Amino acid sequence: MGSYVFDNAWEKERERLSALERYFDPGTIRVLDSIGIDRGWSCLEVAGGGGSIARWLSHQVGKEGRVVATDIDTRFLEALTEPNLQVLRHDIITDELPEESFDLIHARLLLEHLPSRGVLLKKLVSALRPGGWIVVEDLDWGPLFAKPSLGFVHPASIQKTSERVARRLVAVMEAAGYDAAYGRRLPGELLECGLVDVNAEARDRLMWGGSAEAGMRRWTLERVRPAMTAKGGISTRALNQELANLANPNNAWRGLLLVAAWGRRLGKAESRTFKSRLVSEAHAILDHLRIVPLFADCSPVELETIASAVREIPAKEGAALTKEGAEGSSFFIIGRGTATVTRKEKHLAQLGPGSFFGEVALLTEGVRTATVTADGPMTLYELDANGFRDLMRRTPAVAQKVIQGLARRLQRADEEIAVEGEPFEYPRYF
Ligand code: CMP
Repeated sequence: MGSYVFDNAWEKERERLSALERYFDPGTIRVLDSIGIDRGWSCLEVAGGGGSIARWLSHQVGKEGRVVATDIDTRFLEALTEPNLQVLRHDIITDELPEESFDLIHARLLLEHLPSRGVLLKKLVSALRPGGWIVVEDLDWGPLFAKPSLGFVHPASIQKTSERVARRLVAVMEAAGYDAAYGRRLPGELLECGLVDVNAEARDRLMWGGSAEAGMRRWTLERVRPAMTAKGGISTRALNQELANLANPNNAWRGLLLVAAWGRRLGKAESRTFKSRLVSEAHAILDHLRIVPLFADCSPVELETIASAVREIPAKEGAALTKEGAEGSSFFIIGRGTATVTRKEKHLAQLGPGSFFGEVALLTEGVRTATVTADGPMTLYELDANGFRDLMRRTPAVAQKVIQGLARRLQRADEEIAVEGEPFEYPRYF
């Protein structure tokens, strides 16, 4: 049985954790955001360490929600004051977890250290409510250890020392049960647990010497210095050299991947075959959405989220896709074909592939401002009102384009009114 190498009692552990949070938090938050943490959710942050993610989660879930942040040593978590955040001294290996209790569970840089990681992952999954999400993040040292190395070290003259030190660091951690390839295996592990909507991304950023991020590596090496230089290890000289390299702002490194993998426990009323059909459909839809200008500035993760929320629907020639004055509950993006927009039987516009419509009734929570009719057979991507609201909230790049589109329609409406010499009147959607 191994033991966790980085215990919180070490005097510099707070600094090490702060540097680590600075380096990894932006990516973690992006992934969690793309899943969409709703107000009222119940979240578990396992081995919360410095507590930055637990704090962020507690703000997302609001006062209707709750966050439980655990650690074997809660000294840093105790400093968190959020009222909906509960700090729990808890050992994931030996202590129990309540079943079916959380909407979201997150564990970063934890399971890779624990030899019983397979069992522990299953334990975490059973603590998820049906329909709940788990996000696990662990490292993949593969690129650094490939021959030749797929990492990047600048200048090349410090590469050898850097690689030797990295290898020794991993060897020290492996002696305590560490798995340096766990990150790479995470998606497979989540699938093994029977999760659906499994996906993953790997993150790697250039790390400059002397930066807060390089501090993370420096503190880590300091932390395990005795084990690094013990018999069979590397020389104190090589270690000191690497520490000096890490403090030098002219040096840079890349090549260590943090893999974030996530998946969802099947909901109670959901059947697996239906869900897997939906997942493959989402992949096909993704290929279409990639080329839609509305989504041009979306990240791959954002696009995937959108693809799994939209429904592909066919429409026949003459089909009324929206009816002026009627209630509306969907937003549409045109995949194939064209549609004509009319108001009071007056032609307003013709919309083609990549265009969207139906946003006005959803934004105003009012009625349709125009009738949109299919000119011929069409393929549409439909988002329901909740999906549209989520899209606007989570993807500012899309929200901006929807607003631009609206402004153009308003401008055009103004011009038409002026041309006709009618008394000025805002279109009905304002
Ligand atoms: P909504 O009112 O929900 O339903 C009808 C849709 O037609 C409307 O949202 C807009 O998306 C679209 N629409 C309204 N006016 C115009 C216009 N002048 N040009 C293009 N599209 C429009």
